[in-house]
Amino acid sequence: MANAQVVPESPLVGADVVVPVLGGGQRRYVDLDTAATSSASARVVLAVQEFLPWYSSVHRGAGAKSQYASARYEEARASLLAFVGADPATHVVLFPRNTTEALNTLAFRLDLRPDDVVVTTAVEHHANLLPWRRHARLRVVDVDARGTFTVDDVVAALDQRPAPRVLAVTGASNVTGWVPDLAAIAAAARARGVFVVVDAAQLAPHRPIDVTALGVDAIALSGHKVHSPFGAGALVAPRRLFDRGEPMLVGGGAVKAVSFDDVVWADAPDRDEAGSPNVLGAVALAAAADELRAAGWTRLLAHERALVAALDAELASVPGLHRYGPVAGDRLPVACFGLDGVPHALLAARLSAEFAIGVRNGCFCAHPYMARLLALTDEQVAQFHRDAAGAERHLLPGAVRASANRATTLADVAALGSALRVIAATPELAARYAVDGHGSYAPSDGSLVPGAPSC
Ligand code: ALA
Repeated sequence: MANAQVVPESPLVGADVVVPVLGGGQRRYVDLDTAATSSASARVVLAVQEFLPWYSSVHRGAGAKSQYASARYEEARASLLAFVGADPATHVVLFPRNTTEALNTLAFRLDLRPDDVVVTTAVEHHANLLPWRRHARLRVVDVDARGTFTVDDVVAALDQRPAPRVLAVTGASNVTGWVPDLAAIAAAARARGVFVVVDAAQLAPHRPIDVTALGVDAIALSGHKVHSPFGAGALVAPRRLFDRGEPMLVGGGAVKAVSFDDVVWADAPDRDEAGSPNVLGAVALAAAADELRAAGWTRLLAHERALVAALDAELASVPGLHRYGPVAGDRLPVACFGLDGVPHALLAARLSAEFAIGVRNGCFCAHPYMARLLALTDEQVAQFHRDAAGAERHLLPGAVRASANRATTLADVAALGSALRVIAATPELAARYAVDGHGSYAPSDGSLVPGAPSC
């Protein structure tokens, strides 16, 4: 198979890392866990290095460094607005830690009442379920056996009474890579006056986004998934939401004046950024966004289509492998699967220990979606919760996920297929592994560092 690889604007750092494997020796690490966290791009690292001599307080100091750092911080907001196609006249950018913090902030600031309805879907990551459930009632668009829903399913939920206030939907599944028809879904919600929020954590590194063209009100993304591992994500949302009311986090920087019994809140976006902001993270995230925009999408999209086709072909050639989620249709280069008779944690451990292939296993912070994909009964879900609460983590249901990105080669995908075929043909080698109290498998001779627990 050809070893075609997109030549990105800059390579990703760590592409040449080697790790020890079972039986001695070392292999190049094959990163097929990019949906969890993507390696830093060299361009982002350079931007951070160039900024570090100027690193200083934002919006607080009178000195030259502080002026420069403050200007870079504000420029970073402009980069993110451009990255998602938002209108600076109406929208504002906050720099939360990640998508989870972004959606918690937004759910808090929408002034939802407990009987307000938020339409969401069974596909969502916990980050796009739990914040809404805390503040309002969920109306969940369920999925079919493939793990997908239709635009008509969303329309039916939007048309139920009481009318919803918010539609919170993912741009792409972190579990299966499935990409819902966001344009049609957002149009249906907007036509009904429903506020549209998109969790773009998975979509942002893979697809161009234009919230204005889509008619999306608010969007959240994570820096650590777009090659920018310095602790900043972004929330892009209407300015009007943040120019009134109390912020979720209160403290210095969010105010114009404070006495013991009064406070004058700052204007947006400062009102929702109490405490010293993460200027380094914002500079890094802006560099990542600028790099993705400058690179254009044509080559990346073609490469990702080739990765999806290669993943599907390799996985189809593994005896006893079963897929979860849609295989046809629009997908990111992500695949969720299991191997007959092999616990998901053992399969992930063998890929790591014997082949230096990094994947994720478990339920991927999307338990309701995985319950659907695994066709768990209500009793099995109840047992899952009992096992999770107790000491039976090795019994938890789950699957393995392989996820690729711009730096993944077709040779990497071929290596996955080859490793899975070996594992399928050598079930007896499972005896070399022991499971620990967290449900992780590791070589029982203790020769390699065990994997971290996964939920
Ligand atoms: N949400 C990340 C994942 O899907 C962490 O793995």
